[in-house]
Amino acid sequence: MRYASITDRMAGLGSGKWAVHVEARRRAAAGNRIIELTIGEPDVAPEPALLEVMMHALRAGRTRYGSGRADPALAAVIAERYARRSGRSVAAANVLAFPGTQAALYASMTALADHGDEVLVGDPMYATYEGVVRATGARVRPVPLRAADRFHMRAEDLEAAVTPQCRVLLLNSPHNPTGATLTRDEIAAIGEVCRRHDLWIVSDEVYEELTFDGAFASPFDDPALAERTVAVSSISKSHAAPGLRSGWAVGPQEFCQRLLPISETMLFGTPPFIADATAHALGAASATAERMRLAYRRRAGLVAESIASPLVPLIPDGGMFILVDVAATGLDGEGFAWRLLDEGVAVMPGGSFGEGARTFLRISLTVPDEALAEACSRMNRLAERVVPERRRA
Ligand SMILES: Cc1ncc(COP(=O)(O)O)c(C=O)c1O
Repeated sequence: MRYASITDRMAGLGSGKWAVHVEARRRAAAGNRIIELTIGEPDVAPEPALLEVMMHALRAGRTRYGSGRADPALAAVIAERYARRSGRSVAAANVLAFPGTQAALYASMTALADHGDEVLVGDPMYATYEGVVRATGARVRPVPLRAADRFHMRAEDLEAAVTPQCRVLLLNSPHNPTGATLTRDEIAAIGEVCRRHDLWIVSDEVYEELTFDGAFASPFDDPALAERTVAVSSISKSHAAPGLRSGWAVGPQEFCQRLLPISETMLFGTPPFIADATAHALGAASATAERMRLAYRRRAGLVAESIASPLVPLIPDGGMFILVDVAATGLDGEGFAWRLLDEGVAVMPGGSFGEGARTFLRISLTVPDEALAEACSRMNRLAERVVPERRRA
């Protein structure tokens, strides 16, 4: 039978990236004790009040078809939130609800990029971005993010990467996997390049509330960039509720109007009981996010203190992960991660996120301090063994 070309473009995406994680899960299922530091799933429960609102909504019959755009009460809360943040007027017509940031990314990219186009993405990048871009028929145009800049995107590197085919910059701050969190000035400089080349900015802000220090900044909040920016986010991280699949896109009204039929055709609305829980969650500051922010910042410090030379930690500005550079051991991230798995610790090879992180490991901070400390000791011991081995080789 024949299949559409999208299935070819997407085939095999991701499988190699997750090989260490998959093998770790297999070994754990077989009874081995593995410290799993691969994925970034919040390690706290959602607030009871959020669940109660949802249960109440379920019992109250909020199980009928929902609005294709966003439940009106939820759209109002999201609009108010972004109006407060940006100091601009943001209306319900600027908002579309989606089942998670991921779906919002996918749908937004469908509306902005076509076959033959290019989408600029910092390298390293979050593991699904390549698929999000490829699904549209466009290609990823990598913008190198450098360890020397703590993986903050530089406007000059963006400028150098732009081609006439580029339509969109897919930006992520705080960034997965590096934790780089862009400042207002950095965003203004990046935005200037986007204005010059008439590029859209899709801004993945799923880790907004996990900004460790300093202020979170977004191109959405910059009046000079508002007409070309779509912000996407969710309650997956901020409210420790990834399974609820509740996210949104906020952008210019024409963008939302054009995206609406795509979203409706795909989703036919989002669940009202989840909209109620989300509206409740977004109505006030998230205590869950604050707890996680403090815990992940502390744990990043703990890893940085525990990791010894020749391993080099890169302290993140935000998010749920810390990178550790293993280059000085003579192995790359992939080689080190496989060896480390034999020591009972599962981490993501940096190369799973792109060439720019090939010599790094990405370590999730969503496990208790003791497990992290133990994992660091095993990493240090492995590095001590690997260095002389590599010298002999
Ligand atoms: C950068 C980034 N974007 C998007 C997502 C997906 O978020 P959601 O659960 O809201 O779809 C993740 C999840 O880890 C992520 O790290």
